[in-house]
Amino acid sequence: MTLKREESIGFFDSGVGGLSVLKKTLELLPNENFIYFGDSKNAPYGTKTYDEIKELTFDAVKFLLSKNVKAIVIACNTATSVAIEDLRNTYKDIPIIGIEPALKPAVELKKQGEIVIMATPVTLAEKKFAELQNKYSKIAKIRPMPCGGLAELIETGDIDGLAIHNYLEEKINILKEKEVGSIVLGCTHYPFIKEKILDFLNKDIEIIDGSLGTARQVERLLIENNIKNDSNKTGKIEIFNSSEDEKMIELSYDLLNR
Ligand code: DGL
Repeated sequence: MTLKREESIGFFDSGVGGLSVLKKTLELLPNENFIYFGDSKNAPYGTKTYDEIKELTFDAVKFLLSKNVKAIVIACNTATSVAIEDLRNTYKDIPIIGIEPALKPAVELKKQGEIVIMATPVTLAEKKFAELQNKYSKIAKIRPMPCGGLAELIETGDIDGLAIHNYLEEKINILKEKEVGSIVLGCTHYPFIKEKILDFLNKDIEIIDGSLGTARQVERLLIENNIKNDSNKTGKIEIFNSSEDEKMIELSYDLLNR
């Protein structure tokens, strides 16, 4: 397979979450073309079985490959935890970039208090997260916080609605008596409600996510593989979604432009 500079970078997520990573990548690589595939028909992934997630992720990657992409970003922490190694072993000729909870940058902030990791139940239960947590557990106090149901609420697009408000109120209340230094958003859906989360925290808490680290890794791999687009024109973005509901495409562009 010959990878061409002018081809698109393929992005994938279980739904609209990966758009938060695409958004960051666009800032860094405005001259690249992008194809985004959201699998909203099958979302959420975060409460599915390992085998189901793996199969859906491989199907999504095949879809992106059918569009001749030159690199693939698994812009979903859940799909990355389950499938990244197998994907890289299967598709050796194309760079495949994954995302993981931004624990390292959180530790580097050296803030007093716990580091809370909000992510899907699957991400927090997988081996990949256990390894990440082990790496830092001696120097930081880490509190995994599974947020089953939250990605679904964000998929509805009602970011300012009562359902998300109530969900966060309950989750974040638990943190009120703790000393929290930072919160890591370990699911790509959550950056869209970052401001809402902040509203519940009247303390000096830092909220971080993995999108910048992922965008930088995309750039590094494009350079390393000699496939960075050298055009000086703004690239184009195409969004696909598995849902029959056309509103998902509309919502996707809305979120990207938010
Ligand atoms: N956006 C995905 C992630 O980063 C998961 C959401 C879902 O449960 O489908 O983990």
